[in-house]
Amino acid sequence: MRRKKNPSPPLKWGLLSTARINRALIEPLRGSERNELQAVASRSEVRAQVYAAEREIPKAYGSYQAMLDDPEIDVIYNSLPNSLHSKWSIRALQAGKHVLCEKPLATTLEEVDEMRAAVEATGNFLAEAFMYRHHPQTRKVKELVDSGMLGRLRLIKGEFTFNIDDESNVRLKPELGGGSIWDVGCYPISYTRFIMGKNPEEVFGWQHVGDSGVDEVFTGQLRFEGDVFAQFDSGFRSPYRSRMEIVGSDATLIIPHPFNPGLEVDIQVWRGEESETLQMPSQELYIGEVEDIADAVLLDRSPGISLEDSRGNVEVILALLSSARSGKPLKLE
Ligand SMILES: NC(=O)c1ccc[n+]([C@@H]2O[C@H](COP(=O)([O-])OP(=O)(O)OC[C@H]3O[C@@H](n4cnc5c(N)ncnc54)[C@H](OP(=O)(O)O)[C@@H]3O)[C@@H](O)[C@H]2O)c1
Repeated sequence: MRRKKNPSPPLKWGLLSTARINRALIEPLRGSERNELQAVASRSEVRAQVYAAEREIPKAYGSYQAMLDDPEIDVIYNSLPNSLHSKWSIRALQAGKHVLCEKPLATTLEEVDEMRAAVEATGNFLAEAFMYRHHPQTRKVKELVDSGMLGRLRLIKGEFTFNIDDESNVRLKPELGGGSIWDVGCYPISYTRFIMGKNPEEVFGWQHVGDSGVDEVFTGQLRFEGDVFAQFDSGFRSPYRSRMEIVGSDATLIIPHPFNPGLEVDIQVWRGEESETLQMPSQELYIGEVEDIADAVLLDRSPGISLEDSRGNVEVILALLSSARSGKPLKLE
């Protein structure tokens, strides 16, 4: 179903599930003049009712489809487990909604292509919720690299790990699209591809598959055109670590909070033994992706993260997983 162009603000949002990550969106939605939190849906009527009552959300639905059938809802926030991203984003688009879908957009290229086909058929917007991409620190880092201040780009390193404390976590379930590379490895891969502005030519991965059946530790290498290299690791069995390092012929940038920059952030530039701290522009972490959807819907602009970009990330992750299974490097098309 095509929705009417340019609905009037505030856009009415519905949370698709009672996922933990919803909490990140609730305050930004409430603080935004162009957006409004209107509904939550759950597989369980009771869970939806309790969730809505505790958070003063006006409407609660005991099934996902029931919320999609509500003509008052403009935007769906898809916070389902990874394996359900494509199915429910497509259903939402077909129900006339715009969709902000959690990362990773999907776990196969076929799913991404079906999502893109639904966007084209309905004219509704769909964007991957990589919140860090909308933070001004990320744009500043890209600007600094593009300005040439590091000299010739040589190497990009990234890490994102944490210890999972609950063995029933959806991240440990293969059937729900679990695994550390999908959950957190996707960030340094996305960051690296953003800095490079393209996909690598070749990748190589190693993984430790735990008793859960998913990769619980992953380490990968990416080779870009012109022999710019990248390395990253992700995992569920080490304490929290999150960092990016961008190495050029003249200087190195260290970004201590690349994926979750808060209100006070800074980065360091190292030239040999000398370092300088650069204060970064600040912004609440999740407001950017919310306002980006409002810009798309209300001003008819393309979302900040294109489907082509999200497809590229999925493609690289799949290639790394395939390489890890075969034990061989893999060239991308
Ligand atoms: N951008 C970020 O900062 C960020 C951070 C964390 C997570 N995420 C992403 O957000 C998504 C959700 O992560 P989360 O940690 O918030 O997940 P979670 O707390 O486990 O919630 C997932 C929700 O999905 C629903 N669901 C539907 N089918 C399910 C099934 N078979 N098993 C379990 N739950 C099912 C459940 O809601 P109902 O029971 O109410 O239907 C559940 O509450 C993932 O895609 C993840 O990658 C993003």
